[in-house]
Amino acid sequence: MIPPFPRTAVFEGAGLVGVGGVGVDDLAARYGTPLYVLDRAELVGRMDAYTQAFGADVAVTYAAKALCVVGVLQLAAARGLHVDVASAGELHTAARARVPMERVIVHGNNKSVEELRYATALGVRRVVADSFSELERLSALGDGRGVPVPTLLRVTPGIDAATHAFIRTGQDDSKFGFTLSAGLAHAAVERAQALPGIDLRGLHCHIGSQIADPDAFAAGADATFALLAEVRERARVVLPELNLGGGLGIAYRRGDRPLPIPTYADAVLSAVRRETARWHLPVPSLAVEPGRSIVGPAGLTLYRVGTIKHLPGVRTYVSVDGGMSDNLRPALYGAEYEYVLAGRPAVVPHHMQPVTIVGKHCETGDVLARDAHLPTDLREGDLLAVAATGAYGYSMASNYNRLPRPAMVLVGDGASHILVRRETLDDVLSHDVPLDAAALA
Ligand code: LLP
Repeated sequence: MIPPFPRTAVFEGAGLVGVGGVGVDDLAARYGTPLYVLDRAELVGRMDAYTQAFGADVAVTYAAKALCVVGVLQLAAARGLHVDVASAGELHTAARARVPMERVIVHGNNKSVEELRYATALGVRRVVADSFSELERLSALGDGRGVPVPTLLRVTPGIDAATHAFIRTGQDDSKFGFTLSAGLAHAAVERAQALPGIDLRGLHCHIGSQIADPDAFAAGADATFALLAEVRERARVVLPELNLGGGLGIAYRRGDRPLPIPTYADAVLSAVRRETARWHLPVPSLAVEPGRSIVGPAGLTLYRVGTIKHLPGVRTYVSVDGGMSDNLRPALYGAEYEYVLAGRPAVVPHHMQPVTIVGKHCETGDVLARDAHLPTDLREGDLLAVAATGAYGYSMASNYNRLPRPAMVLVGDGASHILVRRETLDDVLSHDVPLDAAALA
């Protein structure tokens, strides 16, 4: 295995030949390319690593936005995880996967009334309220049903985590949550307590995503505990729950050194111990919400190499049969990934060439990797594999240029199981409604 490929990846030289006990050439032949492949051992190993590191008292809550498909949520539920959903579609997926609703929490900065109604009707564990108008909507719903809505308040603690600006959420200037420094968090606690139909259970805080600094997580916890203590002084109530969000970063490139899950858990749990002692607060019922660090490293994508264009003195372009429609992250965040030859051995490392890997979309920005090193004998029809695509790949996929979205398979113990079937061209067109004669006239 070569990191950041999943734990069952088998290499011959620098070429990836198998994963989950299955040959990657067999996978490509059977399911076609591009193909998302999830390594079951890596996936459930990470789910279990989380529950072990945090212990039975902490609700490890899989953030489904990272990869929301029925089979993955079934696995999460079977491993005892809770699930965080951020839309009616994600909630519907959790319901279809039969995740027990007492283990589902609902997020979103602009949940519609229909989404809130769906969530309360299903009896979800918690709704994380993000705004004053949402509190009013929740109150009306809870009051109307005669069942108060178990609610957390999302606090924006004023922490600028070191990560891409698009995936920072804890800073004051954010669309998310009740901003602590602006007094909104205090006001929200008071409002939630005053409103009928709301059962205020506690606070939530998520500072951002792809974070490698343990102090950033500790700072989020510190700010939230200070607020819990202040609420106790002002409102004479000790809120019993705290959800500290997700955001643990993963390795995308060979040299990346993310925080191991146990180190992250230690940082969070010691901050909780320190802060409860400092403020003389009881240890709250805790939750964390990892997404990327559960599914990201378990995934890889297989592409088939198409056109290769040598531009002497400039670069070599290697085109693959997918692109920004199945992995938007390079175009959106400048994210970098590790590419290797797949399906056959790649023998000597020094017979490598730098290439630029591009997708097949009609867009110059459809660049997947600017600095991949691939064998000099690379040819059309070869397979390429890219590591760590399990999170925010399929979940942000599109049909740009009317490309059908790829299939996804789970591999393990020598077998493969389809998780998502490949879209057909007719699937892509399935919502188009042709104009009738009257509209054409
Ligand atoms: N909880 C909340 C409230 C969140 O907003 C998120 C991520 C998570 C948990 C999970 O964070 P994770 O453990 O996956 O870092 N599309 C971006 C990532 C967006 C993250 C959105 N919220 C990317 O591809 O990097």
